[in-house]
Amino acid sequence: MVSPISIPDNAPFTPEQRQWLGEFIGKLLARPAAEPAGPPLPVTVLFGSQTGTAEGLAKKLVKTLKKGNFEPNLQDMSTYDRERLAKEKNLLIITSTYGDGEPPDSALEFHTWLMSDAAPTLAEVNFSILSLGDSSYPDFCQCGIEFDNRLAELGANRIYPRVDVDVDVDVPYAEWSQAVIAVLAPAASVVAANGAPADEIEEVGFSKKRPFPSAVLANYNLNGPGSKQTNHIVLSLESSGISYEVGDALGVFPENPACVVDEIIAALPFKAGDVPTSTGEEVPLREALLRHYDIGNINKTVITKWQKRSGSPFLRSLVEADDKQAWEDFCWGRDLIDLVLDHPADFTDGEDFVSVLKKLQPRLYSIASSPAAHPGEVHLCVGIVRYDSHGRKRGGICSTYLGDRLTGDSKPGVFVHHNNAFRLPADGGVPVIMVGPGTGIAPFRAFLEERKATGAKGKNWLFFGNPHEATDFLYGTELEAFRKEGVLNRMDLAWSRDQKQKIYVQDLMLKEGAAMWEWLQDGAAFYVCGDASRMAKDVDAALHTIAREHGKLSAEEAAAYIAQLKRDKRYLRDVY
Ligand SMILES: Cc1cc2nc3c(=O)[nH]c(=O)nc-3n(C[C@H](O)[C@H](O)[C@H](O)COP(=O)(O)OP(=O)(O)OC[C@H]3O[C@@H](n4cnc5c(N)ncnc54)[C@H](O)[C@@H]3O)c2cc1C
Ligand SMILES: NC(=O)c1ccc[n+]([C@@H]2O[C@H](COP(=O)([O-])OP(=O)(O)OC[C@H]3O[C@@H](n4cnc5c(N)ncnc54)[C@H](OP(=O)(O)O)[C@@H]3O)[C@@H](O)[C@H]2O)c1
Ligand SMILES: Cc1cc2nc3c(=O)[nH]c(=O)nc-3n(C[C@H](O)[C@H](O)[C@H](O)COP(=O)(O)O)c2cc1C
Repeated sequence: MVSPISIPDNAPFTPEQRQWLGEFIGKLLARPAAEPAGPPLPVTVLFGSQTGTAEGLAKKLVKTLKKGNFEPNLQDMSTYDRERLAKEKNLLIITSTYGDGEPPDSALEFHTWLMSDAAPTLAEVNFSILSLGDSSYPDFCQCGIEFDNRLAELGANRIYPRVDVDVDVDVPYAEWSQAVIAVLAPAASVVAANGAPADEIEEVGFSKKRPFPSAVLANYNLNGPGSKQTNHIVLSLESSGISYEVGDALGVFPENPACVVDEIIAALPFKAGDVPTSTGEEVPLREALLRHYDIGNINKTVITKWQKRSGSPFLRSLVEADDKQAWEDFCWGRDLIDLVLDHPADFTDGEDFVSVLKKLQPRLYSIASSPAAHPGEVHLCVGIVRYDSHGRKRGGICSTYLGDRLTGDSKPGVFVHHNNAFRLPADGGVPVIMVGPGTGIAPFRAFLEERKATGAKGKNWLFFGNPHEATDFLYGTELEAFRKEGVLNRMDLAWSRDQKQKIYVQDLMLKEGAAMWEWLQDGAAFYVCGDASRMAKDVDAALHTIAREHGKLSAEEAAAYIAQLKRDKRYLRDVY
């Protein structure tokens, strides 16, 4: 008996085509693995990735393809030779989306070129796209969507519909990769006889699927009284077998605040019983709302499902108008509790209620320690998100869990998110410039510890900024010590609110532009970490100015110089 596979809803097919394709691929997948026949099929797997997820999947896909009669070729968009594009036979793209619907840094140049008139016709190219994203952002999977549309516009042949992935990559990746492999070359299929993909072997050790319950060894506020709250958190990795490198991030599974969970349950129109979780187990509703479902920020998907069960005329008009700005205006600063209280809905039972909710997702934090300096530990620097909106005091789910709700017995579930796109130079002699205001300091504390532990000879220059020197000099004592020891050769500090006029890190960069240009000419690598929406953009603009003013380059030459820095992995960003 052959079961058809489900074709994604976003596919540009009619229902009949979707059914046909589903049955066709289902049949291919059900065939026993055949002996390879003929020459191996060339397949280029091209990825665009900011924090390593797309890169990891691309590598996994290449590994799988190698088991079949394929000749896979892994390519990073940042270094991909565009001249090859029109000659590709089979092109599988995996990309994420960043910023406000923008390509990840590594894909930016390729994306700009592909969208321009310079892009060639691609009549000979077969392609399919796996687009990673997060539906909490208004421009969900925008980068993958743009690649998909543009390749088709240039005449390429879409062999399998684009799959848009909403945060959880495992299942959609497995379905997409199986399907494209089946479509590309049935005879070379690597699907095992039992139907399980060859690379779906149970992971050993701790991972996102099996987080490590980590003891909290220290947790304290780095800011002084009267300021914001940024916690230094030390977690134990003892006996976990987990290893990490500086530049990696730590994933943390949060718990929702019990007081808000109880407020939600008290307002629901049914008696709380057991409900299913995404892993299939049944747990009491309270437990499910504490640990399994997202009761924080709401989005279009949640509201659309909610509206079907609510008589709210406001929600109906919001859904019917489907206006991007109106969605953003309504969702900003509102959580599930606002729907529960202001737009009550009818749910048959707890199962119906949780079917509307998103899964509670882990948050990533740039690791602030070097394993060489702190064996068996991992350190984080977490800004606690608090704000008032719509008459309520609110907080970020994970940062307030870490900052407010951990107890002596808490063991938050953690995993390492490897990020090869944010590494120290392999050659310790290469100078390093680091720009990390606020919590952006996190990976640079780790970098400095690592450079010290490895005895790296390269010079180190840090730009740090925060509102006030007296209260907000995160890791000030340690940084001063690095300075005295000669590990930190230069440190420029931007105290934004210690004087009338704001001073930001990019102002100090511009002031020190001549020296910065010299460091860059000496081969320095340039790193940025912290706020993506404003700081990272302004720092990028300052870098262009420095290249123009001190390198005597035109605007175009400066842009080309900086693009080359990125290609050479000398301009790396960890921004959020
Ligand atoms: C690779 C990476 C590395 C990171 N490293 C760090 C790090 O080292 N340190 C760190 O602190 N964070 C870091 N972050 C950010 C971190 O992952 C979380 O996003 C952050 O802690 C907020 O999560 P939360 O669960 O507390 O907030 P959430 O519950 O996710 O809420 C945040 C949301 O609250 C809403 N919101 C926030 N402020 C307001 C406001 N004023 N008005 C209205 N609505 C508002 C917004 O919708 C915002 O998106 C990193 C992120 C990434 C992707
Ligand atoms: N995506 C997320 O989920 C998420 C979660 C947490 C934090 N964040 C972001 O990450 C950032 C880190 O938070 P944080 O509290 O550690 O630090 P922060 O808010 O970035 O502040 C650090 C310093 O940067 C300054 N700054 C403000 N605008 C700037 C700009 N355009 N260019 C350069 N510097 C600028 C601030 O000055 P002033 O404040 O005096 O203007 C402050 O002195 C926050 O900005 C926040 O937006 C994002
Ligand atoms: C700062 C930031 C901005 C993001 N912006 C978007 C966005 O606009 N649209 C979207 O669909 N996903 C967005 N995402 C989600 C990422 O695309 C998603 O997490 C993806 O899996 C990351 O893959 P990568 O690690 O390969 O870069 C954003 C994530 C971050 C941290």
